[in-house]
Amino acid sequence: MTHTTDSIKELTISQPDDWHIHLRDDKALVTTVRHAAASFNRVICMPNLVPPVKNVEDARAYRARILQRVQDSDLNAERKAAFDPRMTLYLTDQTTAKDIEVAAQSGIVQAVKLYPAGATTNSADGVTDIHGRAAVFEAMEKYHLPLLLHGEVTHEHVDIFDREKRFLDEVLAQMIAKFPTLKIVMEHITTSDAADFVLAQGSQVAATITPQHLMLNRNHLLVGGIRPHFYCLPILKRRQHQEALLDVATSGSPKFFLGTDSAPHATDKKEAACGCAGCYSSSIALPLYATAFDSVGKIDTLEGFTSQFGAQFYGLPVNEGRITLTKTPMQVPTGYPYFDGQTLTPLMAGETLPWSIKA
Ligand code: DOR
Ligand code: ZN
Repeated sequence: MTHTTDSIKELTISQPDDWHIHLRDDKALVTTVRHAAASFNRVICMPNLVPPVKNVEDARAYRARILQRVQDSDLNAERKAAFDPRMTLYLTDQTTAKDIEVAAQSGIVQAVKLYPAGATTNSADGVTDIHGRAAVFEAMEKYHLPLLLHGEVTHEHVDIFDREKRFLDEVLAQMIAKFPTLKIVMEHITTSDAADFVLAQGSQVAATITPQHLMLNRNHLLVGGIRPHFYCLPILKRRQHQEALLDVATSGSPKFFLGTDSAPHATDKKEAACGCAGCYSSSIALPLYATAFDSVGKIDTLEGFTSQFGAQFYGLPVNEGRITLTKTPMQVPTGYPYFDGQTLTPLMAGETLPWSIKA
């Protein structure tokens, strides 16, 4: 938004991880896994499949389907070996403390995802009474399993632009007080309120930020025509919020790290009278984040956000591989082939980004 750090034209960083991604399932995996594995080593796979990933058996089978797709892809042997999908369980009203214990001991479940029922895509089985889930949260504290939050209230009467802030005030503050050692990630934060809230908590509370919430605000979504490929949940907010997110993401604070929330929906499901929520960014996520960081002259703080802070939060080592980004323009493809003859339109389709991945 202001000046750029013109002196830095190339940046070699530790291989990034994506701590929040939707890969979907079955035939969709041909496209989504190829794109994710090209840029990221570890990816935390969201469990909002139909039906959702509710237990360890579901998670194990889903992981095997993803790994099969990466093996079948045209990626090189190094990328195939490095790609490491991490699983999440979908918290429902029926999840028990025992389920959490089993998940923690399985070694393949990285975290538990909470969708308030009705908050977003495939959230119908989500939690209807968060305060009734105390035994589950206690078990997560005990077994050190992080809770990943879609942090929006869902009451019909609450304005869509206020839903994240209301969640902080009415739900999250109490949860943190009641479960003070529970590791929590506020996923895809969209407001200065969320950024300030996370900053005010201890190191057990962190947040992911998407490329679209760093690059766009609600004017991009709505002025001069409605842009369905910018529609996601939580919805883009006003410019001041975008600027606050850019501030914290580029600040070097380890509480904020990369989570694309890349969420594929076929082009015709987005460009529709009732378009689906979700931006597909996986294939171009690193050039997008580099562009966002460079736009405020902070490309030098990119690596912490993309490759270090998330690993630190999850207690994992930083990846050994390296990737080079270069200030060489790239054109974002207008679409990718998706399954059954459909296409997938990426975020910023057809636009030129100043940064690209060096081959
Ligand atoms: O925009 C979104 N799309 N937000 C979500 O929380 C879910 C996601 C999806 O699964 O499509
Ligand atoms: Zn998501």
